[in-house]
Amino acid sequence: MAQSSFQEISASDFFYRNRDIAGFTNPSRAIFAAIRELVENSLDAAESLKIPPDIYIRLSTQSKDKKDEQVFKLRVEDNGCGIQPRFIPSAFGQVLYGSKYKLKQMRGTFGLGGKMAVLYGQIMTHKPATIMSSTGQAKIYAFKLMIDIQRNRPIIMDRRVLVNKEKWRGTIVEFYIEGDYLRAMPKILEYFKQTAMVNPYSNLTFVDPKGRLYKFSRVTTEMPDPPKETLPHPYGVDVELFQRLIYVTKEKNLLEFLKNHFHRIGNITAQKFLEFSKLSPTKKPKKLSHEEIVTIVQNMKKFKEFRPPDASCLSPLGQDLLEAGIMKELNPEYIVVNQRKPSTYAGHPFIIEMGMAYGGEIPRKNSFQIYRFANKIPLLYDEASDVSYKVINSINWRRYKVSPDLPIAIVVHICSTKVPYKTVGKEFISDRPEVRREVANSLREISRKIHHFMSKREHVNRERKRISVFAKYLPRIAEFSTNLAEKEKQPDIKKLIASVRKYGEEE
Ligand SMILES: Nc1ncnc2c1ncn2[C@@H]1O[C@H](COP(=O)(O)OP(=O)(O)OP(=O)(O)O)[C@@H](O)[C@H]1O
Ligand SMILES: [Mg+2]
Repeated sequence: MAQSSFQEISASDFFYRNRDIAGFTNPSRAIFAAIRELVENSLDAAESLKIPPDIYIRLSTQSKDKKDEQVFKLRVEDNGCGIQPRFIPSAFGQVLYGSKYKLKQMRGTFGLGGKMAVLYGQIMTHKPATIMSSTGQAKIYAFKLMIDIQRNRPIIMDRRVLVNKEKWRGTIVEFYIEGDYLRAMPKILEYFKQTAMVNPYSNLTFVDPKGRLYKFSRVTTEMPDPPKETLPHPYGVDVELFQRLIYVTKEKNLLEFLKNHFHRIGNITAQKFLEFSKLSPTKKPKKLSHEEIVTIVQNMKKFKEFRPPDASCLSPLGQDLLEAGIMKELNPEYIVVNQRKPSTYAGHPFIIEMGMAYGGEIPRKNSFQIYRFANKIPLLYDEASDVSYKVINSINWRRYKVSPDLPIAIVVHICSTKVPYKTVGKEFISDRPEVRREVANSLREISRKIHHFMSKREHVNRERKRISVFAKYLPRIAEFSTNLAEKEKQPDIKKLIASVRKYGEEE
């Protein structure tokens, strides 16, 4: 048998070889994905300080050289929290490195997005990326970076320190990327429109390669409260996580260990659980055998008295902001929104928010216009694989006097500490039974309200038709009956029509 040769590759190398799974499939998708990843980092950075984001995005061509026509310079500038200089090289030059591996709702999840953009730019143009950032202190730090793909480490080509006279705070990322802007343009503009819809407190300014300016201005400075970091919920814990917690804990007994390392376990619940698991509250966590750990973790799934997770680790938009966002971008005739109570899947809390809008700028198509969002990120690809799409298409809409050819938009937003994305490209939500159930319940609630509106609208339309018949024939009847009665003055029919109209509108 021939000898196989084995080799180890780094995380960067893996994503270099498999960039499709991160959404960097072709020159058009890549330019879209790069903009999106950087904008999302900027939104996270501003929201972490509860500051209304101001983000400036410029894509310019390097068209002096004909061959370079497809190479663009992408610059994204924000007013976010900034990054401390010691973290900048790895934050942009080391795949799977980030500050968001935490249990709270954030757009960033994988520690990958920004690096994928830089990496893609680098492999296509071989030019370094420039990062400038300040946390608002006396200095601004500027780095020129490349990624050592085989070692998954940043290569610092240049580092400068500038005086921050104006106390500027934020981050600027600039790099070169090969792409197909013309093909990507509709998706990029749709991305901004939908980002503006679900972040109505943001200013987004985009200058495209032709110098056209697209401005999406905020309609409010109200922002949801930032999420608080939380502890793991016992229903979502596995043996690996439990062992890691034992490794880092300073607690000397099991009772305190349970209370201080898990979400919503108080004294009484901890005691009951230890009784249920037949373990002494005074036992040292570090003295647990491997078998005991496996049994505890299994018992955590069986024990029925853990309280459900609270929602302070989530930061949903709320009904008012969701409504403001939809009004701003779709300007509908009628709108209903709702927010479900927090729920969980596999120990992760999540909230479904939904809106349904009719008329205005919503186009008429053969299907509903579906807007999908996860942690305030628009999801624009693979709609048919998304749980919301499946739920929406499984409803019997005739019961609600609604049909897909009406100008109706359905907005679905899932917020979670861990959104069940199916790929690292964050394109669609997997079909978890708990998520599906919540989406379906939410949809039923708003559909009932839309049903009410549609019935009323139908009635008003019927009345309008009735009144127009009166308005058309009453003058003739008046004329005819005046002649018949051999009178000279016709009766005043205006009053009669007004009273019929009033009656119709009152109903
Ligand atoms: N504009 C920014 N302002 C402040 N910090 C930033 C900014 N961009 C990136 N960062 C920091 O760099 C880290 C890496 O960003 P990157 O986009 O690669 O991963 P992520 O946002 O953590 O996760 P994801 O892969 O889901 O986007 C972030 O966790 C954040 O700490
Ligand atoms: Mg990111």
